[in-house]
Amino acid sequence: MAGAADLLDAGERLDAEELRALQLERLRTSLRHAYEKVPFYRESFDKAGVRPEDCRTLADLAGFPFTTKADLRQNYPYGMFAVPQDRIRRVHASSGTTGRPTVVGYTEGDLSLWSDMVARSIRAAGGRPGDKVHVAYGYGLFTGGLGAHYGAERLGCTVIPASGGMTARQVTLIQDLKPEIIMLTPSYMLTLLDEFERQRVDPRRTSLRVGIFGAEPWTEEMRREIEERYAIDAVDIYGLSEVIGPGVAQECVETKDGLHIWEDHFYPEVVDPITGDVLPDGEEGELVFTSLTKEAMPVIRYRTRDLTRLLPGTARVFRRMEKVTGRSDDMVILRGVNLFPTQIEEIVLRTPGVAPHFQLRLTREGRLDSLTVRAEARTGATPQTRDTAARAIAAAVKDGIGVSVGVEIVEPESLERSVGKIKRIVDLRAR
Ligand code: DLL
Repeated sequence: MAGAADLLDAGERLDAEELRALQLERLRTSLRHAYEKVPFYRESFDKAGVRPEDCRTLADLAGFPFTTKADLRQNYPYGMFAVPQDRIRRVHASSGTTGRPTVVGYTEGDLSLWSDMVARSIRAAGGRPGDKVHVAYGYGLFTGGLGAHYGAERLGCTVIPASGGMTARQVTLIQDLKPEIIMLTPSYMLTLLDEFERQRVDPRRTSLRVGIFGAEPWTEEMRREIEERYAIDAVDIYGLSEVIGPGVAQECVETKDGLHIWEDHFYPEVVDPITGDVLPDGEEGELVFTSLTKEAMPVIRYRTRDLTRLLPGTARVFRRMEKVTGRSDDMVILRGVNLFPTQIEEIVLRTPGVAPHFQLRLTREGRLDSLTVRAEARTGATPQTRDTAARAIAAAVKDGIGVSVGVEIVEPESLERSVGKIKRIVDLRAR
């Protein structure tokens, strides 16, 4: 049998110096493509007084202007496209929380690149040609389903295109069709757990070997929970529609130490979210991407609003990003203290007697905001256990994050379950 190293593709075999040279060459081409073909980039570069040819080293990218979600919205639907309509083979859209969605487009070449990157991701996660891949990300405008689907096919796997929802059927499909790999959001994987129990099927005794989870932030505690309950390896996949979809970065199963960014195609920077200054590797800030090879919709210094840090490569030559702690949009500012749902996830999942299901409810009395953590009791937890759990969660939030919150332990299976990206925050302040 071939060793893992024999399976690496050409990009993964580059050495660091070759990688930097390739990135620079591609970066210069991508800047030129954007500038020449997209009026938005021409204007924004001109306004900043930079030309594509000013980029002589990778560090010179810092002199180019950022692109934001608002820019994409203003150019809705097709204004950011760099090729004529008849070269666009597909569009996807991200729903977004407010206002207009963002439309993204792909040429044939882009779709092929995307499949290659997802295939590379599934392989890094431990998938091999011949494996059966159950895809329970939603199919449709969301990039999760179709992105995973074509990537799995590209790797030479058998795809089971389950899509999201119809949870009872998901468990039946897993039982009957015996996939080795499953791809879905981590919160939906937890939802499936209830269904396994309902059907009295032992989730540790399925054919599943690896779960590839992404599209939302999740913690090491969640990894432990999923790995234990299902007896599988759980690894992280990252991506966003504006950059391509899933398959921008992937955790390698042999190290599980953060996600290697496929930076031969997606060039990362981490910047200070306030000043926009580029931060050195190792420092936490906002992740920014520049596409190096995309045709239909190149993105130059696109601000993801995701917070993370860049780390040196381990299992691959590419740099890693730490598991995303959260999006700046999901940050709650409570009496001057910044709080992310992932911080609460860590605490809830460490607390005995509560299930890994929780919700954050924001309310306002007078001018004071308050937050209530609503966590579900495990089946059979006694009133005393629930009480102890509530106090433990409140104390851990106070000690660890530095703010007082209310805690409510609710009945088992009373909180809404996710079938895709979970919504942790229920904001009742505006009412
Ligand atoms: O969620 C693409 C995707 C699909 C990634 C399936 C992985 C798996 P969007 O709907 O455009 O695309 O949402 C992108 O989701 O900016 C992050 O805030 C969040 N996100 C995606 N993957 C992760 C992850 C898809 N592994 C937004 N960890 C991103 C944390 C993630 N957040």
